[in-house]
Amino acid sequence: MSPVSYEIIENIGIITIDNPPVNALSHAVRVGLVETVHQAQNDESDALLLICTGKTFIAGADISEFGKPPQEPFLPDVLNTLEQSDKLIVAALHGQALGGGFETALSCHYRCALASAKVGLPEVNLGLLPGAGGTQRTPRLAGVKVALDLILSGKPISASTALEDHLIDHVFAEGDLKTQALAYTKGLVAQKAPLRRASEQEIDQNSFDGAIFDQYRKTYAKKLRNQNSPQLIVDCVEAATKENFTDGMKIERDAFLQCRASDQSAGLRHIFFAERQAAKIKDLPRDTATRDIQSIAIIGAGLMGGGIAMNFANAGIPVKMLEINDDALNKGLANVAKIYRSMAAKNRISPKESEKRIALISGTTDYNDLQDVDLVIEAVFESIEVKKDVFTKLDQVCKDGAILATNTSYLDINEIAQFTKRPQDVIGLHFFSPAHIMKLLEIVRADETVDDVMASAMALARKIKKVPVQARVCYGFIGNRMLRQYQREVQMCLIEGASPEQIDKSMMDWGMAMGPLMVADLAGLDISYKARQALSDEQKGDPKSYRIPDVLFEMGRIGQKSGSGYYIYDPQTKARTADPSVNDIIEREAAAFGVTRKAMSDEEVLNRLSLALINEGFKILEEGIAQRASDIDVVYCFGYGFPKYRGGPMLFAQTRGLDKVYQDICAYRESHGDLYWTPSKLLQNLVETNTSLSDWEESTQ
Ligand code: 3HC
Repeated sequence: MSPVSYEIIENIGIITIDNPPVNALSHAVRVGLVETVHQAQNDESDALLLICTGKTFIAGADISEFGKPPQEPFLPDVLNTLEQSDKLIVAALHGQALGGGFETALSCHYRCALASAKVGLPEVNLGLLPGAGGTQRTPRLAGVKVALDLILSGKPISASTALEDHLIDHVFAEGDLKTQALAYTKGLVAQKAPLRRASEQEIDQNSFDGAIFDQYRKTYAKKLRNQNSPQLIVDCVEAATKENFTDGMKIERDAFLQCRASDQSAGLRHIFFAERQAAKIKDLPRDTATRDIQSIAIIGAGLMGGGIAMNFANAGIPVKMLEINDDALNKGLANVAKIYRSMAAKNRISPKESEKRIALISGTTDYNDLQDVDLVIEAVFESIEVKKDVFTKLDQVCKDGAILATNTSYLDINEIAQFTKRPQDVIGLHFFSPAHIMKLLEIVRADETVDDVMASAMALARKIKKVPVQARVCYGFIGNRMLRQYQREVQMCLIEGASPEQIDKSMMDWGMAMGPLMVADLAGLDISYKARQALSDEQKGDPKSYRIPDVLFEMGRIGQKSGSGYYIYDPQTKARTADPSVNDIIEREAAAFGVTRKAMSDEEVLNRLSLALINEGFKILEEGIAQRASDIDVVYCFGYGFPKYRGGPMLFAQTRGLDKVYQDICAYRESHGDLYWTPSKLLQNLVETNTSLSDWEESTQ
């Protein structure tokens, strides 16, 4: 049955799209739209109304079709058919009208929407550009600046903003969309409203400054570093101001096809689906009941505890922070209030909203105040003894059925669970710092954690707008376990010949959000030093992999907060400069290990750092710590600044070719010894049996 149906009500031909879950413009929808609009030209209807069932208007082209051979009719032609209709067409929007969905609306002659609706052109987030007239019709309706902002930001705007920008024509207060849109369409018929085709509108050449295009090219070369689609978007919008509509559409089409075929778009599309997959736990029945979580407590009101608390207050959930004394508590509460007020000062939220959120966060120093909370998240110092104390107390005071979570980054959650008499209710909720900003949340499933606790944590994570990924228990879970290998390799590159600036620049040029040594300085060398002290020599590994940060720490160079670490920082501006004396330290320590440093190419730096991540990723997968390769990609992209347009380390490995990855790892094993460069057995097996990662994953479902 076609997802597009047609009926005539009160002389208005109503075209309804019903293609769950988001009414994407699949092949069947495109065929249905063209056939229905053709058929409607000759019936008794006076005008047509395009509307969707379900929770949203059309959310875009069907992204899952992009990797497959394209099938006619192509979307730009479908939308041309709509725009050229001799009968007036009105689009009625609710939910989200996104990408090709909003382009569909723009090709209708009038647009009305519920006040709660949002419209946007988010293609840039998928390494694409609006490829069905969005770059040509938007500037014609709303002007060049609005078009550039809408398309380059990829962020949806509200119906009222779209009304102000002339992108829609009428907004209804809430109520039944179909009834109101029908009345609106009849009103247009009664007024003999003209067929308003966006393609026929002219852009006023005096309405924009010609320099705007280069300004946006520059801004987005920085904002979306290395990415092609933003630059092509500017070209297309500029073309809309210079060419006629037909020629502009040709330029847009070529640019769209170029983007669609690119590795960048493939990487971003992979991450789009991977993010959604990661929220699904394979062996958990879809209908697993969740526990009601209405109130939350955080143990520890430090930076981490405060950041975690803000996530819940942002979602309107009351949260109580517990500290050991009034001083620490008041400091924590004041810190959270300061962040909210500074957000209000920067107009990110209203002052009223800021105060509302501050009021949702209360404090206590008494464990007995936690008797009624539904979830507790412990965010105290990383020491198993301290955790033991906290979980023993929680076990005594919390009500039956409360979920007890730890935010530990490394410690054994199975051991922590045993500090309670309810290990089935214990779980890891590993937030990333700054916790109110970073999207990633590792949900760590301990051996005895029960299904409904997992399901509740996943549901809660989505409620607070995090990107959740399940991990099983091991040292560092998914992300930090990989990070350790990456950092180890950074240190080995330093000892063998690379400079801190070279390492950071190579990785940033390649697309990492920050260089690894800049991150180390930002996080503080004292933190990692203290964490190392808790490890045995065997756990610490090769001394070459931590000698330099130990020396820097011992010199009091603990990073940005002390004014120096791997770099020197201006006390006022925090501007970073290279420090030649650090290279002297590295030279001296390398010599002490008997290593003669040699120049290292940027390519080698990149190769070694990325292979360290990939090899550990495969080990994590083979041990079942991560459910799927794409979950590892999500962790690395959302938690560690890996470029999304490269799809994460595991997709990058596949793009590069698993055999090449395996050979390179084996070559490092030859040159550097077995200890770290032992290839993952899974990787070796896949290469030897010529099996793709996706085939292996399917066979182990
Ligand atoms: N194509 C195919 N599947 C899509 C899709 C799309 N455009 N948008 C969403 N889906 C799928 C999701 O993968 C998910 O599938 P699953 O249930 O099997 O995991 C399901 O729909 C529901 O999606 P969400 O979990 O994301 O649901 P939410 O309610 O949280 O969000 C949404 C809804 C805001 C519409 C969000 O899904 C979204 O942002 N979608 C993508 C919108 C987009 O990027 N559109 C542009 C596409 S490219 C384009 O149009 C090119 C054109 O210019 C030619």
